[in-house]
Amino acid sequence: MKVLLLLGLVAVALCEPTKFVDFWKPDSPDLVTIGMNVDIHVPAAQLDMVFTILQQSGIEVKIMFENLQEAVEAQMDNKRATKAHDYTKYNNWATINDWVVSISSANADLISRQVIGNTYEGRPMHLLKIGKKTGSAKPAVFMDCGFHAREWITHAFCQWFINEAVSTYGSDPEMTNLLDRMDFLVLPVFNIDGYEYTWTKERSYLMWRKTRSKNSGSSCIGTDPNRNFDAGWCTTGASSNPCSETYCGSSIESEIESKNLANFIRSNKSIIKAYLTVHSYSQLLLFPYSYKYGLAADHSELLSVSQGAIAALRSLHGTRYTSGPGAVTIYPAAGGSDDWAYDLGVKYSYTFELRDEGRYGFLLPESQIKPTCEETMLAVKYIASYVLNNL
Ligand code: ARG
Ligand code: ZN
Repeated sequence: MKVLLLLGLVAVALCEPTKFVDFWKPDSPDLVTIGMNVDIHVPAAQLDMVFTILQQSGIEVKIMFENLQEAVEAQMDNKRATKAHDYTKYNNWATINDWVVSISSANADLISRQVIGNTYEGRPMHLLKIGKKTGSAKPAVFMDCGFHAREWITHAFCQWFINEAVSTYGSDPEMTNLLDRMDFLVLPVFNIDGYEYTWTKERSYLMWRKTRSKNSGSSCIGTDPNRNFDAGWCTTGASSNPCSETYCGSSIESEIESKNLANFIRSNKSIIKAYLTVHSYSQLLLFPYSYKYGLAADHSELLSVSQGAIAALRSLHGTRYTSGPGAVTIYPAAGGSDDWAYDLGVKYSYTFELRDEGRYGFLLPESQIKPTCEETMLAVKYIASYVLNNL
């Protein structure tokens, strides 16, 4: 009964363009299951209605933010104050784009930059290769951030990672060894159009998740890029409704951003040994499969590496992560880039879900950027070192 009422609410949530309920966790009402904790964002105008429905159904309600607007403003105090790039702040696309160019040229011995294609709205998708230039092909770890527009801590992490890598090369023995013997291929912002949208439009658009492409026959915009890959495409935990937050797209790799990424990985398959894709929030380290319950052929190795990584992460600030296959750990969801990369042959394929567990959710305060990035560095270095030692 409770579930049915919540599902009723869920149906209401899907009535675009007036969005009554914005799902934070899980990502879309399609993914709600019995017994699950659900985080939703309710616009003030719908609050009474939604609150009544939930109360009548006996669903336990806990208020996380009395006033989301205030929380947004608190988080973004310095949003307009500064244009200068800052690793401990959320930077907009223009600032990140300038930074990509400047950090690459300032570290020409360690970084090379290329564009793997343009986004739907025509923005260049910069990919940085970080590693000592040896003149021959090295094994590589591929990492992307910013698949989902509102997951701002992920964009911050990729920037942090690149800076940390080049500034600890030569002093930190682990990083030095990694960069001497392998390359990191980092795509700091995958869904640039979506990210830009969260910054430039009204505050209410801050919670945008998808790409910004038009859908024919619908006024709803965007596809969930993490439902758009060739891995059980659109079979489970994804929607064929363009208005859904988990819309799988009109076809596999219908999104130019997905196609650009997939093409790059396909053509560099022989050197790419690990694929890391960074999301937020929930404090999880997931690995295949998500499109099915069946375990990956490399399950026990993927599990033990994930356990080592989350232990390393926890050693710094005590942050607890859970690791496991996506389908059983959170929910089955097909079309993800992690499953696709794994089935393509990239064995060490992981999805990070960074801080927090829901206290701030997507509105993680800037004061948590530094500790979050520091601890995540340890997990990424752990995985990369493992990969290097097990080539
Ligand atoms: N929150 C992420 C998403 O729903 C989790 C991705 C896990 N991997 C997957 N292939 N579903 O996109
Ligand atoms: Zn995400």
